[in-house]
Amino acid sequence: MLDQSYVPEKMITREHKVEQLARYFLDFLDNPGSTYHPVLITGKQGVGKTHMTFRFFRDLKEAFVREHRKDLVMAYVNCHFRNRSLMQILRTVATSLRANVPTRGISADEVFNSIARILEKKDMYMLLVLDDFQYALHYDPQIASFIARIYEQTDELKKKRIQSIIIMDDASKLDMYTKDERVRSWKDRHIYMNPYKKEELRLILEDRREKAFYPDAVPDEVIDRISELLGIDTHPGYPISGSARSAIETLRLAGERAENRGDMFVTLEDVNYAWGELTKHGDIALISEALEGLTDHELLFLYSLASVLMAGNDPARIGLVEEEYRSLCELLGVEPRKHTQIYEYAKRLAEIGIIWRTTNNKGMRGRSSLLTIEYPLEPFRNRVAEILRRRGYEI
Ligand SMILES: Nc1ncnc2c1ncn2[C@@H]1O[C@H](COP(=O)(O)OP(=O)(O)O)[C@@H](O)[C@H]1O
Ligand SMILES: [Mg+2]
Repeated sequence: MLDQSYVPEKMITREHKVEQLARYFLDFLDNPGSTYHPVLITGKQGVGKTHMTFRFFRDLKEAFVREHRKDLVMAYVNCHFRNRSLMQILRTVATSLRANVPTRGISADEVFNSIARILEKKDMYMLLVLDDFQYALHYDPQIASFIARIYEQTDELKKKRIQSIIIMDDASKLDMYTKDERVRSWKDRHIYMNPYKKEELRLILEDRREKAFYPDAVPDEVIDRISELLGIDTHPGYPISGSARSAIETLRLAGERAENRGDMFVTLEDVNYAWGELTKHGDIALISEALEGLTDHELLFLYSLASVLMAGNDPARIGLVEEEYRSLCELLGVEPRKHTQIYEYAKRLAEIGIIWRTTNNKGMRGRSSLLTIEYPLEPFRNRVAEILRRRGYEI
């Protein structure tokens, strides 16, 4: 169920987007074959573009068959992988019709006409989905014009049996790559998928938890941590911020680790580990660079925070970290920075995205800052120590 190909019944928190998509298809549903106007879906990786399209197709097909007693097929083309040139795209479309369309030595127009004729002959309709279309656009911007104008090259076709959904990362690329007004007009029917906020990720993860784990195996704090890490509102700085895909993947990896430990329950440390794994090639490298750029005392503070967390106080009260920091300074024979400065460190490090900060309103002392680190603690602390040692600290 944590498999990326699993499509749940509902688009959690985004059913209104499915409805918007459905509205763009009302013409097609009422009067199939009369008009052709592609619909554009955009958004960054992992925000549910592909999921929504598959989910919508199921409804569309059902309604279409019910109202017209005709078949509707989907031709799904992922332009990222092996489908960048127009011929490759058309070949994939032909394959999804299970038709043997010759593509050698003939023009794209002719291939398209064969496809259209097959649809005519079988009295079928088609939803053409071009996913990750930015790759095709980059490969050859003419592809966009071809797709935009498939029904302009011939009067021979009585019905416009194809409707298209174009999925890409960023709508502004259409303007960047082409001057074709017909292509640019795709933006008239455009659905933008926002990166997910923390609370949305929480609902998506809760749904996956229910379907993929034993009851109680994943405590709420685990879900809470993952959603916090990836929420576009709580942690906007990562390339993967707001991605449901990355959130689900983190949960999966954490679950896998708990299982390997022979444990029934997923812990926060499993999440730290999963997060580290997931971001190893991107963010850990990135954060490594950020660590190098920190002052000595910021690093000493981080080292102390990691120690407090490793001792089991996760998340850690900032006061406790400060105590640890002071005794570390004493041990190393350096003058500790002032209290207010410590708070500045915490604030800055959270802004950079190295630590995670939240406030606790429950305590007797009113609001106090709680801190944590999102990477596997031991390797993290080792890396900090490494840098400090290079700077002459005997840590
Ligand atoms: N609103 C949602 N409800 C449930 N699952 C979602 C939702 N949005 C995304 N997902 C899940 O997140 C993962 C990534 O979604 P996907 O459609 O592949 O993203 P994109 O195509 O935008 O890169 C998939 O496993 C998908 O099922
Ligand atoms: Mg996708």
